[in-house]
Amino acid sequence: MKVLLFNGSPHQEGCTYTALREVADTLEKRGIETEILWIGRESVSGCQDCRGCRKQGHCVIDDGVAKLSARLDEFDGFVFGSPVYYASANGQLCSFMDRLFRSASGKMRMKPAAAVVSCRRGGASAAFDRINKYFTIAQMPVVSSRYWNQVHGSCPDDVRKDEEGMQTMRVLGENMAWLLQCIDKAAIPLPEQEKPMMTNFIRE
Ligand SMILES: Cc1cc2nc3c(=O)[nH]c(=O)nc-3n(C[C@H](O)[C@H](O)[C@H](O)COP(=O)(O)O)c2cc1C
Repeated sequence: MKVLLFNGSPHQEGCTYTALREVADTLEKRGIETEILWIGRESVSGCQDCRGCRKQGHCVIDDGVAKLSARLDEFDGFVFGSPVYYASANGQLCSFMDRLFRSASGKMRMKPAAAVVSCRRGGASAAFDRINKYFTIAQMPVVSSRYWNQVHGSCPDDVRKDEEGMQTMRVLGENMAWLLQCIDKAAIPLPEQEKPMMTNFIRE
């Protein structure tokens, strides 16, 4: 089993990474492979709503989103990590997730997911909520911890001193490992899908 952890920060080994590393180390202790994908300095366009993905089955913009979409079957779970920018996930991660979920969320259905956010002081809950919205529209079980998955600090050393935040990350890793093992052991086929309805709240 393998979990992919996204780092949306422009800092490859900054605060967000420090939190993700703790989750990844815990997963690995439980025998789950991990990969941390740093997308924070890639050029990631926002979604153009060109609807090309409906025809092609993947995002037609040729960048990291399309490359990652082709690899989604390799992974059994996902963690999306972001620094908090103005009480939200950062633009980089939002653009990446907009396009990934718009074009390829079917490949992540029923795969456990979690959000991790890193901030200096405030806005963590709003950013955490923002990221969780992707999972709950894509039929992905959301993995939780003992607190909302956030760490505090301006540099990795600060984050390491945030003992409660780091513990929250370890508990998250343990909980994700447990859920992945349950899913693997149960080997139950995915639920059948109804044909989607899109009513835009319009009534006859
Ligand atoms: C554009 C920008 C906006 C930010 N907004 C917030 C904020 O709303 N709340 C906060 O506590 N920290 C804010 N920060 C600080 C970062 O969230 C914080 O330093 C974070 O831990 C950095 O993580 P990183 O090292 O992974 O990049 C902001 C930083 C930047 C660059």
